[in-house]
Amino acid sequence: MSDPSLLLQASGLRKSFGGIHAVQNAYIDVPQGNITGLIGPNGAGKTTLFNLLSNFIQPDEGKVIFDGQEVQHLPSHEIALKGFVRTFQVARVLSRLSVLENMLLAAQHQTGENILKVWFQQGNIRRQERANREKAMAILESVGLAEKAQDYAGALSGGQRKLLEMARALMSDPKLILLDEPAAGVNPTLINQICDHIVRWNSEGISFLIIEHNMDVIMTLCNHIWVLAEGTNLADGTPTEIQNNDQVLEAYLGS
Ligand SMILES: Nc1ncnc2c1ncn2[C@@H]1O[C@H](COP(=O)(O)OP(=O)(O)OP(=O)(O)O)[C@@H](O)[C@H]1O
Ligand SMILES: [Mg+2]
Repeated sequence: MSDPSLLLQASGLRKSFGGIHAVQNAYIDVPQGNITGLIGPNGAGKTTLFNLLSNFIQPDEGKVIFDGQEVQHLPSHEIALKGFVRTFQVARVLSRLSVLENMLLAAQHQTGENILKVWFQQGNIRRQERANREKAMAILESVGLAEKAQDYAGALSGGQRKLLEMARALMSDPKLILLDEPAAGVNPTLINQICDHIVRWNSEGISFLIIEHNMDVIMTLCNHIWVLAEGTNLADGTPTEIQNNDQVLEAYLGS
């Protein structure tokens, strides 16, 4: 049975690459409305778990329920359409497109993509394109990237690219965003800004699951934290519980 207070529920997830058991029988829950953390030493399987949750790679086994529906059999773009989007550990922006064009690529329900509709609904398409542009510019404005809208995305700093990836995720009106290391390689001022944006988006109703090695970020943002080590669940609890968990400390020291 799926629990309606849980936006995401995954269980029995398993993935091997040749002889490497990257994720073994892992489970995770993300409550509706929360900012949930996912931590663990390098190579613990965090990114692989994200890839399995969002079906960027197919699990060998396991079940993923998003918003009351099983999604593990759906292609990742269909999962995104349901309001479940993710960003990547190394931000995936298209360097040779402008910042604004990167945003517009994420716009959904693009009538212009259907050739028949292109012929019969020219007016609608123009209206929708204008609406998408306005939405993209409003989001860019809210994250301080509006002035860069016409610049190549490749000209942005690493931190700004991460911000652009998050801004792009917002274009599809998501319910849940998975962020893979939003603070990695980002300067401290921009880290603080990114955290403020996450808190604001969360107060507007978006739930988050965040992988992060920066413990200040995780402990400040998250209501609940899951810990993976060697591909399996090691612990989960409040930030205070996790900080005081000896097994978690050992897993980090041993890595
Ligand atoms: N496509 C792949 N092919 C082979 N092995 C892989 C692949 N992806 C991940 N692995 C292996 O699976 C294990 C888990 O990797 P993963 O990237 O999920 O860890 P992580 O917890 O995200 O680590 P980090 O904190 O360094 O990002 C590692 O041993 C890694 O080398
Ligand atoms: Mg990773």
